[in-house]
Amino acid sequence: MRSWPTRSLALGGDYNPEQWPEHVWAQDGQLMREAGVTFATVGVFSWSLLEPEPGRFDTGWLDRVLDLLQGNDIAVDLATATASPPPWMYHQDGDLLPERADGTRLWPGGRQHYCPSNPTYRERAVQLVEHLATRYHDHPAVAMWHVGNEYACHNTPCFCDRCGVRFRAWLERRYGDVAAMNEAWGTAFWSQRYTSFDQVLPPRTAPTAVNPTQALDFRRFSSDNVLELFVAERDVLHRLSPGVPVTTNFMTLNHFRHLDYFTWGPAQDVVSTDHYLVAAEPDQEAELAFSGDLTRGIAGGEPWMLMEHSTSAVNWQPVNQAKAPGQLLRNSLAHVAHGADTLGFFQWRAAKAGAEKFHSAFVPHAGTDTRLWREVVQLGQVCERLAEVVGSTVQAEVALLWDYAAGWACDQDSHPSSLLRYGDDAHAIHRQLLLGGIAVDVVHPGADLSGYKLVVVPTLYSCDDAVASSLRATAERGASVLVTFFSGIVDPNLHVRLGGYPGAFRDLLGVCTEEFAPLLPDQEVRLDGGGTATVWTEHLHLRGAQAVASYLDGPLPGVPAVTRNEVGAGAAWYLATRLDGDGLEALVGQLVAEAGVSPAAAAPPGVELVRRATTDRSYLFAINHTGGPVAVQVSGHDLVADTAVDGELTLAPGAVAVVREQR
Ligand code: GAL
Repeated sequence: MRSWPTRSLALGGDYNPEQWPEHVWAQDGQLMREAGVTFATVGVFSWSLLEPEPGRFDTGWLDRVLDLLQGNDIAVDLATATASPPPWMYHQDGDLLPERADGTRLWPGGRQHYCPSNPTYRERAVQLVEHLATRYHDHPAVAMWHVGNEYACHNTPCFCDRCGVRFRAWLERRYGDVAAMNEAWGTAFWSQRYTSFDQVLPPRTAPTAVNPTQALDFRRFSSDNVLELFVAERDVLHRLSPGVPVTTNFMTLNHFRHLDYFTWGPAQDVVSTDHYLVAAEPDQEAELAFSGDLTRGIAGGEPWMLMEHSTSAVNWQPVNQAKAPGQLLRNSLAHVAHGADTLGFFQWRAAKAGAEKFHSAFVPHAGTDTRLWREVVQLGQVCERLAEVVGSTVQAEVALLWDYAAGWACDQDSHPSSLLRYGDDAHAIHRQLLLGGIAVDVVHPGADLSGYKLVVVPTLYSCDDAVASSLRATAERGASVLVTFFSGIVDPNLHVRLGGYPGAFRDLLGVCTEEFAPLLPDQEVRLDGGGTATVWTEHLHLRGAQAVASYLDGPLPGVPAVTRNEVGAGAAWYLATRLDGDGLEALVGQLVAEAGVSPAAAAPPGVELVRRATTDRSYLFAINHTGGPVAVQVSGHDLVADTAVDGELTLAPGAVAVVREQR
């Protein structure tokens, strides 16, 4: 994979000049230079302008935009413009629209109002890409192709009849014959046995819970089905515009999980993603860091592109908070700390009209005599100085396993507790590590775990046998493994692993659970070592492991809540409940100490520390998340403040430093 080909740490974002009169464009070019912008994503939502009538293309305006950017030395990430079909397409094909599980059609008037299986959309998209690639493949400004935009953001899964047809074909390829599908889906239950694939429907709104494996397969199918759209466009671009990298922007936010990005990652020339802070997250900046670590995992550890984030407020949350002074720089460099070599934003100029007119941008409605603009210019200067960081990779001794399919399955209904949501425990543990200055790789369960000292397995409800073997080998060679509750319960078809929970990891952990005992929303239980736990308990028996902490009260007094099992040269820990903040901090501290994992530098708790390195250079990223000044032990040159650091760096609350370290 190649990272973005611009001279510094690339800075830029979505540029929508088609929404402005041309006299504004010249000013854009000049302001972009002032801000240190080095790239622009152009044309993402311009299909209706590029092809005003079926088959009639109008690219004159785009020619002028590309020339303008070229003249300002700004590289172009040229969109294929297929993110939102023009109004005429629905009138050409009334089947264009996506459908929800309850049959509601999603009408034109917003964006992404197409069914991913619709043949008109598929054909027209490829034709448009052929036209654009033929015209612009050798334009000197075009440095990258940007396919679609945030696939699946609004239209997936689509439950329409056309998707039903493709779902059946996907099932036939997966299972070969209907008997194998019946077996996998457990259709002896509730009279669901099929005698032909033709009888299968998407898992639409039903009188009660739908077949869980059918629902999971539909998620898998939907991700694969949408991936076909990307691949069709990408293949045209590879053919007509060879050598120019192709990407589509993912959404690796916690609240977006419609696609399995571990299957999408290998299809990209460069992995790119979008990230927005979401106020509903318990800790927004910890979630940002998680997203970066996950994106890096999807990119196989390589640098990646942050295609979009926001300079300040967004427009799509109940209350859209502006970023505080300094937060733009801190958030931006946090993405770089976790592996981004590009800082993209939505968008260049705050819109005057349309649904996103209250979304922040580089150039706010109030113009350039604003704090926001001054912070943007400052960011551009820092990006110039960070050019040397580009291409370095993050060094982590801890892996945390993440799996989209396990998440889809975990969050299904008819489970022991709806209070358990996939991701909650992963984020809580990741956050503890982050605030302890420990870097974490978020990787797929099938990843090579051989280099890690500590492997965290949060709520991996479903997994195959290979994951259990890989974790056993990891512990045997001396690493520590932490598994949390509701892991290893079912196989990939969601059949319960019999003989006691947590089936796949019972032997590894040296425990056997006979029954779950989840807690009510406001119920808390106390532990014998101090502290409390919520959400979950289970009737666990020791089968070789030792109890580290047990319940004092609740449904299961005296029963172990945290256990440790010696395995080969390492250990496998089980966390059978959700600990309160202090309890989790203490447990993570014990694990880190046992595994011999060290923070990237000496600093007090609450300082995010990540080291990016090449074979001959290293950079320490330090972000102060505490309310007071902190000292970090490091020597070198802080590229943010452009000052020497001799032994100790003092960071103000909310401040960020990137120190090129003395070796
Ligand atoms: C992204 C999208 C952009 C813009 C932005 C607003 O999801 O790709 O086009 O809508 O959100 O935050």
